[in-house]
Amino acid sequence: MRYANMQYASMRLQNKVALITGGAQGLGAAIAKRFAEEGAVIFIGDIAAQEDAAAQTIEEITAGDGKASFIPLDVTGEQSWADARSVVEKAAGRLDILVNNAGINIRETIEEMPLEHLNKMLAVNVSGAFLGCKYFIPLFRKSGGGSIINMSSQCGIIGHRYTTEAYTVTKGAVTLLTKSVAVRYGKDNIRSNCLCPSTADTPLITERLKDPAFRAERLGEVPLGRLALPEDIANAALFLASDEAAYINGVAFPVDGGSTAD
Ligand SMILES: NC(=O)c1ccc[n+]([C@@H]2O[C@H](COP(=O)([O-])OP(=O)(O)OC[C@H]3O[C@@H](n4cnc5c(N)ncnc54)[C@H](O)[C@@H]3O)[C@@H](O)[C@H]2O)c1
Repeated sequence: MRYANMQYASMRLQNKVALITGGAQGLGAAIAKRFAEEGAVIFIGDIAAQEDAAAQTIEEITAGDGKASFIPLDVTGEQSWADARSVVEKAAGRLDILVNNAGINIRETIEEMPLEHLNKMLAVNVSGAFLGCKYFIPLFRKSGGGSIINMSSQCGIIGHRYTTEAYTVTKGAVTLLTKSVAVRYGKDNIRSNCLCPSTADTPLITERLKDPAFRAERLGEVPLGRLALPEDIANAALFLASDEAAYINGVAFPVDGGSTAD
């Protein structure tokens, strides 16, 4: 056994505590469910208006003997993050995994987009992940380390032809936030990685995918010939969260069926 201190648990996230932002629906909910299946205690952080949606995810998790609860969290607000940290600390005493997943997309080209829309996207997609790191790195340090998984996108690696400039700007920032945190906090056994998915059918995009031309455009760019399933992203997140990825730090991990290899 090369890893003297590593024990492979029967469940890959046994005894771990995870907070997933934007976890009420879509990719965040899929990640919450997958992590819970592998034994993690889940906190779903999402805006208060999403409490009912989160309750459904939590019900599915608890029905399968998992543990999950909801924290009202607006990722754009510092006080909201401070409150969330207090709740996690009080309830679990530690955090092992932070998934900065909350994100929005306002689909307007650079010529059409009012500055306030760019700022709104920056607030959720970039400040949200930034503040998550800011508020939870100290708790990770207290617990002896942790895994941060930021939700970037294929647009966080390339200037994707079908995506708007503003979304690409936010995801590019998330990718380099990820690497920057990885470099600074690796010494504290805090790993920071991001996922870079191609199009997955979630509420973020489901209406647009009803347009056959849009769907064909998105399918046409994927060498594997299908859209991503939320479970594809959740499985990649599970790997990055688990001790199997103990030496993976600072990676922008495409989960895109080969799109960005083209
Ligand atoms: N679906 C895709 O094709 C795709 C591809 C690549 C990357 N992503 C990224 O994955 C992440 C999740 O996307 P999704 O498709 O599941 O979207 P979604 O719209 O289905 O879910 C996003 C969640 O984020 C929450 N959220 C929004 N603003 C928030 C805020 N201020 N504070 C807390 N929570 C907030 C929403 O309430 C929602 O529950 C996003 O960061 C998105 O940019 C999605």
